[in-house]
Amino acid sequence: MKNSKRLSQLATMVKYPYPHIWDCCCDHGFLGIELLKQQHKKVGESERQSNIHFVDIVPTIMTQLSEKLSRHFLHQPLWHVHCLDVASLPLSEYPVSERHLIIIAGVGGELTQWFVKAIVAQNPQHQLEFLLCPLRQHYQLRKTLSELDLRLVDEQLLQENKRFYEMIHVTSDQNYPEVSLVGNKMWHGSGAVGQAYLSRTLTHYQKQQGQSLAEVKAYQQVIID
Ligand SMILES: C[S@@+](CC[C@H](N)C(=O)[O-])C[C@H]1O[C@@H](n2cnc3c(N)ncnc32)[C@H](O)[C@@H]1O
Repeated sequence: MKNSKRLSQLATMVKYPYPHIWDCCCDHGFLGIELLKQQHKKVGESERQSNIHFVDIVPTIMTQLSEKLSRHFLHQPLWHVHCLDVASLPLSEYPVSERHLIIIAGVGGELTQWFVKAIVAQNPQHQLEFLLCPLRQHYQLRKTLSELDLRLVDEQLLQENKRFYEMIHVTSDQNYPEVSLVGNKMWHGSGAVGQAYLSRTLTHYQKQQGQSLAEVKAYQQVIID
């Protein structure tokens, strides 16, 4: 089955092999499966392979996913299925020297924020990277990322089926620049999609009658070039 543009674009944002990649709230596991396929194509190349971890809280989903993965990736051992709450990822079971890329896509910004906070708090020694694609509440999420001192690796904007998606890749590595509350790099060259998204976002905050003054002011500063 062909993946959505959103999941395919997220997969292209995974540039390097990490020791561990976590497809959190994976549901049918489409994103993790795309990453496994990408790796499969590279078998034989000297590049290291990642362990792909599929995580969801619903047992029936994970049983079906295990069966599917066993059928299609029997000879590719680097996948793992975890039925658990994303707020308690078992990262402490791995050496702190091993980098983790934690992907959280397709859930609300508030829940995403809660997961990121919990994972960072529980794993202060680990090198963490997050690739996030929340539904809504982007400003609040970015604020939390900034408060946690996570830094920006990359960000992209995508429109699919009349919805807009921000894809935000952040790291605990302090050599990267700070996260902007309204986005920065994602607006560059975003053209008509950027204009439409900016206009929709501003209208949304302006409708909140004074409660979101900071957000309105911040988005009014955005320049699309
Ligand atoms: C809409 S699906 C997202 C699927 C996929 N990540 C995507 O972007 O298309 C949301 C999934 O999040 C899972 N979920 C919700 N809360 C969770 C939690 N606390 N821990 C793990 N999974 C959770 C649900 O079971 C559901 O399968």
